[in-house]
Amino acid sequence: MNGSRTDPRSRAHSDALIFFVNGKKIIERNADPEMTLLIYLRRKLGLTGTKLGCAEGGCGACTVMLSRYQTGTQQPSHHAVNACLTPVCSLHLAAVTTVEGIGSVARKLHPVQERIAKAHGSQCGFCTPGIVMSMYALLRNNATPKMADVEEAFHGNLCRCTGYRPILEGYKTFTADGGCCGGKGASADGCCKANRNGAEEDSDGRVDEARSLFDAAEFAPYDPTQEIIFPPELTSLAKGQRSASLSFVGDRTVWLQPDSLEEFLQLKWEHPEARVVVGNTEVGIEVKFKNMEYPVILAPAFLVELNAVTHTEHGISFGAACTLSRVGSVLKQAVKTLPPHQTEVFLAVLEQLRWFAGLQIRNVAAVGGNIMTASPISDLNPVFMAAGCQLTLMDKDGSRVVQMDDTFFTGYRKTVVRPREVLLAIEIPYSKEGQFVSAFKQSPRREDDISVVTAAMSVTFAPGTDIVDELRLSYGGMAAVTVMAKMAASSLLGRRWGEELLQEACSALAEEMTVDPSAPGGMATYRRTLTLSFFYKFYLMVLQKLRKQGVNAEEVGSECLSAAEIYDPETPSSVQIYQAVQDQQGRDDSVGRPMMHLSALKQATGEAVYCDDVPLYENELYLALVTSSKAHANILSVDTSAAEGVPGVVCCLLSGDVPGSNRTGPAEYDETVLAQDQVTCVGHIIGAVVADTQLHAQRAAKAVTVQYEELQPIVSIQEAIEAQSFFDPMRTIQKGDLEAGFSQADHVLEGEMHIGGQEHFYLETNVTLAVPRGEDGEMELFASTQSASKTQSLVAKALGVPANRVVVRVKRMGGGFGGKESRSTALSTVVAVAANKLKRPVRCMLDRDEDMLITGGRHPFYGKYKVGFLRSGKVVALDVTYYANAGNSKDLSLAVLERSLFHMENSYHVPNIRGRGFLCRTNLPSNTAFRGFGGPQGMLVAENWMTDVAQSLGKPADEVRRLNLFAEGDLTPYNTKLERMTLDRCWEECLSRSGYPERRAAVGAFNSRNRWTKRGLAIVPTMFGISFTATFLNQAGALVHIYTDGSVLLTHGGTEMGQGLHTKMIQVASRVLGIPCSDIHISETSTNTVANASPTAASASSDLNGAAVMNACEVLLNRLEPYKKKNPKGSWGDWVAAAYFDRVNLSANGFYRTPDLHYDFDSNTGRPFNYFSFGVGCSEVEIDCLTGAHKNLNSTLVMDVGRSLNPAIDIGQVEGAFMQGVGLFTLEQLHYSPKGVLLTRGPGSYKIPAFGDIPKHLTVSLLRDAPNPKAVFASKAVGEPPLFLAASVFHAIKDAIGAARAESGLGGPFRLDSPASAERIRNACDDRFTKLCPPAEPGTFTPWSVQV
Ligand SMILES: Cc1cc2nc3c(=O)[nH]c(=O)nc-3n(C[C@H](O)[C@H](O)[C@H](O)COP(=O)(O)OP(=O)(O)OC[C@H]3O[C@@H](n4cnc5c(N)ncnc54)[C@H](O)[C@@H]3O)c2cc1C
Ligand code: FES
Ligand code: FES
Repeated sequence: MNGSRTDPRSRAHSDALIFFVNGKKIIERNADPEMTLLIYLRRKLGLTGTKLGCAEGGCGACTVMLSRYQTGTQQPSHHAVNACLTPVCSLHLAAVTTVEGIGSVARKLHPVQERIAKAHGSQCGFCTPGIVMSMYALLRNNATPKMADVEEAFHGNLCRCTGYRPILEGYKTFTADGGCCGGKGASADGCCKANRNGAEEDSDGRVDEARSLFDAAEFAPYDPTQEIIFPPELTSLAKGQRSASLSFVGDRTVWLQPDSLEEFLQLKWEHPEARVVVGNTEVGIEVKFKNMEYPVILAPAFLVELNAVTHTEHGISFGAACTLSRVGSVLKQAVKTLPPHQTEVFLAVLEQLRWFAGLQIRNVAAVGGNIMTASPISDLNPVFMAAGCQLTLMDKDGSRVVQMDDTFFTGYRKTVVRPREVLLAIEIPYSKEGQFVSAFKQSPRREDDISVVTAAMSVTFAPGTDIVDELRLSYGGMAAVTVMAKMAASSLLGRRWGEELLQEACSALAEEMTVDPSAPGGMATYRRTLTLSFFYKFYLMVLQKLRKQGVNAEEVGSECLSAAEIYDPETPSSVQIYQAVQDQQGRDDSVGRPMMHLSALKQATGEAVYCDDVPLYENELYLALVTSSKAHANILSVDTSAAEGVPGVVCCLLSGDVPGSNRTGPAEYDETVLAQDQVTCVGHIIGAVVADTQLHAQRAAKAVTVQYEELQPIVSIQEAIEAQSFFDPMRTIQKGDLEAGFSQADHVLEGEMHIGGQEHFYLETNVTLAVPRGEDGEMELFASTQSASKTQSLVAKALGVPANRVVVRVKRMGGGFGGKESRSTALSTVVAVAANKLKRPVRCMLDRDEDMLITGGRHPFYGKYKVGFLRSGKVVALDVTYYANAGNSKDLSLAVLERSLFHMENSYHVPNIRGRGFLCRTNLPSNTAFRGFGGPQGMLVAENWMTDVAQSLGKPADEVRRLNLFAEGDLTPYNTKLERMTLDRCWEECLSRSGYPERRAAVGAFNSRNRWTKRGLAIVPTMFGISFTATFLNQAGALVHIYTDGSVLLTHGGTEMGQGLHTKMIQVASRVLGIPCSDIHISETSTNTVANASPTAASASSDLNGAAVMNACEVLLNRLEPYKKKNPKGSWGDWVAAAYFDRVNLSANGFYRTPDLHYDFDSNTGRPFNYFSFGVGCSEVEIDCLTGAHKNLNSTLVMDVGRSLNPAIDIGQVEGAFMQGVGLFTLEQLHYSPKGVLLTRGPGSYKIPAFGDIPKHLTVSLLRDAPNPKAVFASKAVGEPPLFLAASVFHAIKDAIGAARAESGLGGPFRLDSPASAERIRNACDDRFTKLCPPAEPGTFTPWSVQV
């Protein structure tokens, strides 16, 4: 260590930081304490395989393996960690392994890479390297894991495309238990492993039903002995230098790594303001997202005393730097060896650790960090408090021991620990005879989520009795600190543990555990109810344990037992069914076969290049956006002077810097490139700062100050209705005679529902790199966009140049889902303006929080309906009105609204119908396209009135739905005659494959046996019109070159975002040209190869581009025909060569326009869709009525995709869309403040489905024998239609809630808004506990968030 410690900032030099990356030694002499490993890998080492998805440890895209030599075991340890939270300075003497380090397509694939790709577990591929590395790290520690280990390894990884099933299938092949369903599969003999070898005979004797999407026999075997070894040099360095103290000096921060406890204490004494950093999972977030600046960081992670684990007389003492993974493994071992009565506290800690973050976080986060962060929603602190843990605090003058009780936390994120003290250790006590301890956590998502309420309870009884001697109840999430319910607990002392005590406890808790209805986090009623629900669960658990021990305690009714069960996830199983190709089909003809996504291997090795992976240009700059913090305001002034003083800043941009037109917008020019005088949403782009690095640009952007004059914002649909704030036009579709319909009806019902919006959460955020070409105003853009043409035209408009000067290139996207159809241009135009001004390449990849804030999402909808129906359940009249929250500009909202109206009847024939739609103009960021494009919202309202009809008649919902289904020849409300209907076939197949009747009976039986857990079942159809409803977009182009070596370069107007479009297009070209797919290549999508391409959207890209590709290939084939005739025995190469020498043009462009499309709203005539896709889904769920948590037990999906071009890709689309729908309808909740500020801006607060959310059993069947004459090779569109099948999960939940309400004597229709979150489920299950926690009167408080 150099120099004196007393003024660390005066130090001029850093020590050398030595670590290894993929076996290569790195000596970094200028390690920056503010730099993360992720930035270092990507920017300094050019290792771009490791991806940035969130920068907050919440998505796992950045997962790498960290290995360190452990002096104790004299072995290296291997852990998956998040590179985005790992400070590069923490890596001294560590070995980092990235996805590039374990294999490559060119060299050799690692089995972990090969299997995820070949099992179809990689679609857009942006999550894939992180998932590969989580699996790899698992195998390095355990070469024969169980499926449960695999599932645990993925707790910290998200994927937005695949629906997770194929990833688990692929990795099952590594497991010792093979992940077999144990006979619960849906195949004939009941096992998931049956019928796995391709075509098999189905129950009707058909021999072409295939159930295998990959052949595991093809996989290279896994040989753990071949793994890369830990660098020997590092072993010797680690042995010799482990205790060296180090300093690293950065721009703003000094990192000090002490080599002894004394030095650590001395440093803390000298720098009481210094931040102690161990795992950096808290401090990293504070610095990145909360603008915190820490000039001195102390890094004691490797001090022996802070890592010590000691078994004492009273319990186990853990050094404060022990990671949570280590705490978990020590406690698990103790539970195995100690008598059960001693391990109650340990089991409670382990229960909390099961659901604590993801493995990557637990591998680095320290137990001391969790305590010292003093978060009110810490999951461990309630257990530590209930158990009475002891903490050892220390400063340079000595130590003291304090008890973790209600005096430890002194305020929000404050403790009794003094500034010069550190936490040395925590002792977790053994429990004693007669003591019972439990911990509970409820979060919106079970896996990797922070708590709504978290609790721990400990009760001790007088020996041999059920009389309470001691009771400690502690709760997180109820106040600014972890609190103890002291009054409730003390009132129960000396009482018998029985029903009377329960009643008193609940009343006391309801009184003591209050939450201000305006409190941050909202959900006040739910939180209060949870405190009671948890106590009730504890009460039941303890009663059972007492009786087991022979104490004469009250008996627990068998109907209550399931409420006390601890959730234990089952390994999911699945079946995929499709029709195999005919035997006579040529081997080289891949159409209809489950071919792997052609980029999947590259995606799995990190070699696939995404926009931000394009190597840095030498003089490249980075841009950061300045956005509005007000929803509606006049801009009074913008001051950029402070920003200009930040090192590295090159310039600031404001609206005056836009050389062309500042008016922009994808459909109408009703937006600004940079806000001029007014802002109309939080996140409205006001300006930008360009600097040498991302860090500098972002720091400077935060230094720009804007003065506003605030105006009244309109945030919600209700506010827009009140203010009549609508965009023109409103839309109506009407058919039949509404009045006559209602008068004919036996019953008329009215209802309403709200459907929340949805964030796209593509794993790759929006990114653009703009490169000025230096002459004639030319500009080249690399962008992550679904619409290269729209980007081109809006950039040209902003720059004031003709479109022919702008080239937009898209290699691939890390997901789009509609989010990059139009909103991507908001970033691209600004980046292009900056590059144009500075004449230098400029890049910007939005951080996740910026992306979520700026780019809008799925439209929230509010639907109001009046439905008339006969006693039989037949619906005869419907009047429905939709209100969509469009946000601050029109964007694509009118088309979204129109589609909701086109789908207002879902799949049901309603003879007299009127649908009206209004677009609410609000001060939210403009909402936009999202898979389904308004269809799911329109259809969910339909399913709601359908459920109401069934519930009010007391008839089974499936019967009422079946009765109303469209039939062949029926007319839709927009007068399209339905032909080639397959809806009834999908319905029947779904009923039989799901075993609906037996399941219904079993659900009923389960519900009659259980009071606090209820099951629900629902079957739901979907019918989705295929075509852009804007007729002109239904066109596509392709360009095909055949080179003289016979290889083919294919280009078409569609972009690849993981949906497998390029793979399908190559399959199409391969069949038409009669050559293998390996001879055909797609390099990218670009505006200079195919002009004026429509966005890749509306599920129609395979249809449109496929037809254009066919067209181009047929032209070329015709040109080659004479040479084939002349030399029939020749090869493709011979014919190509002959044609070339004969001066034949071997390039052709193809074009396609969908025939006969047009629709007129005024006359309700025309044909808006080319054809329809049909599907039916059936789902069964189980809800915990006490907490609102639910489990997806079983889903069966039958989808008509015509004659599938590629069953692996199509099934991947069905599953991916379904899981996105599960997110939409049950999980994903955007929270906005009443002032229009988005509060959920990252994976920490916005929860998309994770691995654990997939149904325990999932069957997907592609409807057989359903050729579609309207699209390429008889196929059908698949991207959007299956999403709505997730409504079966929503309605199964509603069914289960209905059963719970029936227990409280409540029957008939009830309102359940979407998503069916845990909070909504709990609140809807009206019972004795909810009655004790009535909601505050609306209007008497300002809520934390509002329904928009
Ligand atoms: C994605 C993600 C998920 C998470 N999920 C959960 C969850 O489910 N439940 C939950 O409770 N928390 C969760 N957290 C919060 C966080 O992981 C924990 O609080 C963690 O235990 C902090 O440990 P650390 O070592 O990373 O802390 P650091 O970030 O290194 O430090 C945190 C704080 O503790 C102080 N500190 C650390 N050690 C000492 C010491 N020895 N003496 C004095 N002060 C010290 C630091 O100065 C700092 O203020 C999550 C965080 C992330 C990023
Ligand atoms: S980028 Fe690191 S976890 Fe998301
Ligand atoms: S493949 Fe997982 S996010 Fe796209």
